[in-house]
Amino acid sequence: MAPSDNRHVVAVADAKALARAAADRIMARIAANGDRVAICLTGGSSPKQLYQLLATEAYRSQIPWQRVHWFIGDERFVPAGDPLNNMGMARRTFLDLCAPAANIHPIPTDTADPEQAGRGYESELQSFYGAGQLESARPLFDVVLMGVGPDGHTASLFPDYPAIDVTERWVVGVPQAHVEPFVPRVTLTLPALNSCREMLFEVSGADKRAILTRVLAGENLPANRAHSMGETIWLVDKAALPENFRGQ
Ligand code: 6PG
Repeated sequence: MAPSDNRHVVAVADAKALARAAADRIMARIAANGDRVAICLTGGSSPKQLYQLLATEAYRSQIPWQRVHWFIGDERFVPAGDPLNNMGMARRTFLDLCAPAANIHPIPTDTADPEQAGRGYESELQSFYGAGQLESARPLFDVVLMGVGPDGHTASLFPDYPAIDVTERWVVGVPQAHVEPFVPRVTLTLPALNSCREMLFEVSGADKRAILTRVLAGENLPANRAHSMGETIWLVDKAALPENFRGQ
């Protein structure tokens, strides 16, 4: 499938600049919506600096915490307090310091299995949204943060796994991961992730250059099938940027 034509690659100097650029885009989205705001976070290491930045006074004092809700695009099926838990990392880094508990929406991992966790989270998302069907004129999220893995996965949508083609569900269990950490996952599906005003990928470090080269060449990879109904921004630092994109 061709990459979305609403994608913009924004090159920044380094990981620090990347976190700042992401934080500023989130602030702009919050400012653009005077009502209830929904932000879907991501796991992995890429967003950590951004989360740290949001906890600093400069950002913390500007965020209307009471009206911003925080979700997570995928979860590792480990206990909430496990260091591998994605929402756990976001909570420790900024949410528990700043956000009202009722506005933090983790994927439950104390269920019998990832599939049951997915069904529970789907119900939570649908009740937040106020409908069981997504409407194209009314996105579920204001911002969806994303990362890309070495195999082109995003959220826990791995290449050639059934979850990538699911259209009827908002959240599903993924019994086995394709890359480390090899724990079962729970992931939002493409229709749910793509239902956003802005999707923001963060890509940093030389380790990402090989997969980014494939993504930008338009390969059929999960990360190329994820795009918002509005803007899709790939924030990329210099170390991750493929040669042929340098100087553009
Ligand atoms: C996860 C993620 C996953 C992640 C990418 C990039 O649970 O692992 O949500 O999709 O975003 O694998 O991970 P890094 O930021 O650690 O490179």
